[in-house]
Amino acid sequence: MKLPSVQAAESKLLIQTYERNPYLFVSGQGVYLRDENGQDYLDLLSGIGVSALGYSHPAVVEAITRQSTRLVHTSNLFFHEHTAELALRLTEISGLDRVFLCNSGTEAWEAALKLSRASAGRLRAAGRNIGTKFLALEHSFHGRSMGAVATTHKEKYRKPFEPVMPGVEFVRFNDVDDLRAKFSDDICAICIEPVQGEGGIHPISREFFATARKLCDSTGALLLADEIQSGLGRTGKWFAYQHYGILPDVTTIAKPIANGIPMGAMLCTNAAAEAITPGMHGTTFGGGPLACAVAIAVIDTIKRDDLLKHIHDVGDFFHEELSKLAARHDCIVDVRGIGLMLGAELSSADLAKSVAAQLMDRHIIVNRTNETVLRFLPPFILERKHVETAIKALDEIVSAAYAGAAPAGEQSHG
Ligand SMILES: Cc1ncc(COP(=O)(O)O)c(C=O)c1O
Repeated sequence: MKLPSVQAAESKLLIQTYERNPYLFVSGQGVYLRDENGQDYLDLLSGIGVSALGYSHPAVVEAITRQSTRLVHTSNLFFHEHTAELALRLTEISGLDRVFLCNSGTEAWEAALKLSRASAGRLRAAGRNIGTKFLALEHSFHGRSMGAVATTHKEKYRKPFEPVMPGVEFVRFNDVDDLRAKFSDDICAICIEPVQGEGGIHPISREFFATARKLCDSTGALLLADEIQSGLGRTGKWFAYQHYGILPDVTTIAKPIANGIPMGAMLCTNAAAEAITPGMHGTTFGGGPLACAVAIAVIDTIKRDDLLKHIHDVGDFFHEELSKLAARHDCIVDVRGIGLMLGAELSSADLAKSVAAQLMDRHIIVNRTNETVLRFLPPFILERKHVETAIKALDEIVSAAYAGAAPAGEQSHG
């Protein structure tokens, strides 16, 4: 089916949750996606931070092929050979002790919220004075279910579905005084993204992170670090919190963990894990043999190919090149990010929309988030030559924008 007929069919058959961009992709190789006309696109988005090893990576193809001929699903009523293997890798790279496997970022975050309530309940049963409320941050994004969306700041995501999960208060981003003022015994957890993604690529400050850690330690509340977008190597370290030298009680991951096979995970300390006993939480598909086998292949490939160092090096180069562009073009008002989680903030939403669309016209995929920010979440295997291609295109497009070239089409996200 060609794009026009796919668009027509989807407009009749699908609930209209997305404003898709008018491109139909049929295959991918490395850092390139190919459309129905055989046109290749340099992908600097990797499916919103998912295809970490790029497309058709041999380790991923081999893991899927081998496991699909053995066992795809068992349910969590039985054991299979890969759960413990994966959990061992995840505890080793995170510094945390326990793992719950599920199917998406939202599910992982829901598990973290439920764990926070259960942990506080257990402390209350032991006579501690601790409540059930959550502190989350302005510009946060934690997912779309009733609990996750309640901790997601943008009102447009919550309003149509209210009342969502009660008991959430938002703290001004990186405002330590506001955090201290809003923290109390009522709080069972502080929710942060070490690097906010949907909110426009905003790293948290060391002072704010350290203060949140101290406050949680003072009452037994849990510090939740949502690494669904920033985790598993995206920033040049396995977890963004490792750049700060601060260990949260709980972290959540998803997106790149199985390179496109749906999977999420919540990781936590032994102390926090004691709040969960058999039957309290669960999932049918979560942690299945296929997803686990692919996740193991992804982590082993990142280690074998020394990709954390590669992400650090290429990420720094990309950041520098974007900063040089910003020094030459006033309309690039800020460049932010760590590793290969980068954002270039433009002077207006219209300009950001136009630039993103013109990059697509040049077969370069980026994403616009938070209205004005071009977001770059490329595959970890991206090379300097790809960065040079993108920077050259961006430079030409932005220069032309000055010369008053006409704006082009729309870009959706999330
Ligand atoms: C920080 C963060 N948390 C949670 C989510 C939700 O993950 P999912 O879309 O897999 O449910 C996302 C998705 O973009 C995210 O970036």
